[in-house]
Amino acid sequence: ATATNHDTTDVLVVGSGIAGCAAALAAARAGADVRLLTKATKPDDASTDRAQGGISTTRGDPGSLKRDILAASDGTADPDAVGVLVENADDAVEDVLIDTLGIEFDESGDGGFDYAREAAHSDRRILHVDAATGSHILRPFLNHVDDHDRIDVRQDTAALELITAEGRVHGVVTDEDPTGKPIYAGATVLATGGIGALYGQSTNPDDATGDGIAMAALAGADVKDLEYVQFHPTASAGEDPFLLSEALRGEGAVLRNGDGERFMDDYHPDAELAPRDIVARAVATERQATGDVVLDVGPVEFESAFPAVAEKCRDRGIEGDEIPVAPCEHFCCGGIAVDDRGRASLDRLYAVGECARTGVHGANRLASTSLLEGLVWGLRAGADATGFDSEVVEAPSLCDSDPELPERFAAEKFARLRRTMDESLGLERDPDEIARASAVLRRLKGEVDAYTRTRTARDLYELRNASVVALLIARAAAENAESRGCHYVATDGDGDGGGNDELPAERPADD
Ligand code: SIN
Repeated sequence: ATATNHDTTDVLVVGSGIAGCAAALAAARAGADVRLLTKATKPDDASTDRAQGGISTTRGDPGSLKRDILAASDGTADPDAVGVLVENADDAVEDVLIDTLGIEFDESGDGGFDYAREAAHSDRRILHVDAATGSHILRPFLNHVDDHDRIDVRQDTAALELITAEGRVHGVVTDEDPTGKPIYAGATVLATGGIGALYGQSTNPDDATGDGIAMAALAGADVKDLEYVQFHPTASAGEDPFLLSEALRGEGAVLRNGDGERFMDDYHPDAELAPRDIVARAVATERQATGDVVLDVGPVEFESAFPAVAEKCRDRGIEGDEIPVAPCEHFCCGGIAVDDRGRASLDRLYAVGECARTGVHGANRLASTSLLEGLVWGLRAGADATGFDSEVVEAPSLCDSDPELPERFAAEKFARLRRTMDESLGLERDPDEIARASAVLRRLKGEVDAYTRTRTARDLYELRNASVVALLIARAAAENAESRGCHYVATDGDGDGGGNDELPAERPADD
């Protein structure tokens, strides 16, 4: 493949949420020239911008936060990884968010911070700005990296394929040119976020298509824990859901079923503050048995303490204290397997934020640890990714032969993929359903591959990525018969729904 139109950089970061910004900042601080690519054209194209509740600190007690994270994960999180998170949490928040970006977290009357509480936290330790914390962090962060001399931000640019040679990653091919433009880098940091687009309803932006996970897996990097897809218990019910932050329950909001009764006491001793997976399944069960479940915000200073959420409710015509809620896809706990510096199993490849599997979340993520994980691992990976020379090697050749694609091809395939994921790989799974879904997804991926070989169109690559990740989720779910955290197997392994959904080994645009 020709590499005449290529660019080079020291560190290439793909993605512009908190993790990508943190990686770019740390690499630049260490003296590297950084290229930050993002599909986004505006801040709320990143999930970070939608994060509500806040960012957890330890309030000087790392051991307590560590215990809560391990408990919420049902004992499946990696204690060493959680240790790295909690030991670095407060310094990272103070250095980057408070000192560098000047973010003014909400304060209490006495001049200290107004620490919030969320489900499964044993203490008030969450910093927030209203319940719109993510956007108050991301917007100044994007401005800061954009203004940085060493960081070159390219918006509206998608990474399509990793460039690899002999187990080492040398950058990515982007869609900046119709036949793909290689960007060579000493090290490549994937910070591409989540997988919400694989499900009918998600709190993520629409283009959360699992790009980094798919590209890394296709290049041969290890992925892990992908069966653990977290559903948030209290998104607004109906189309285009928005989050009703867990901080509302932290402040006293309660759930009521279709009969107007509270029910969470029947499911867990911590009631509304039980781990997220338990609340999500309880809400789904009660919706099925009794009709609409509502979040009763009557006990909370809703308008004054949660103005951004209250405004969203008003925009949707939701009036009164009782807000209809339903679980919806929220966070991918698994992803590209990385170590404590964000290093993936391929040389010079890093992954941070939601696309990474650090071991911090195990089978179920504790509230307000995702911004923190993105920040801490972003900084660690960015600092580690410096000092390597870029090397120009052969890049995957893409083409743009532009065959007549049936109109609506991508939209129709995406709709089938989402239906399949909703039906078979949602809150509850059943081995036979998983096996059926795997067969549908394999067929779908075959159809999509035939087109990505002939076109660089971004929506086709997004569809390819989504179908790769969907298959990986199905495979991980099929191989794990044990109900833990977010992976709830309704009929524990009857033996006929098991694995072997081989992900095609070939790289779609490479052969
Ligand atoms: C929320 O505000 O409920 C979301 C917080 C999170 O997902 O960590």
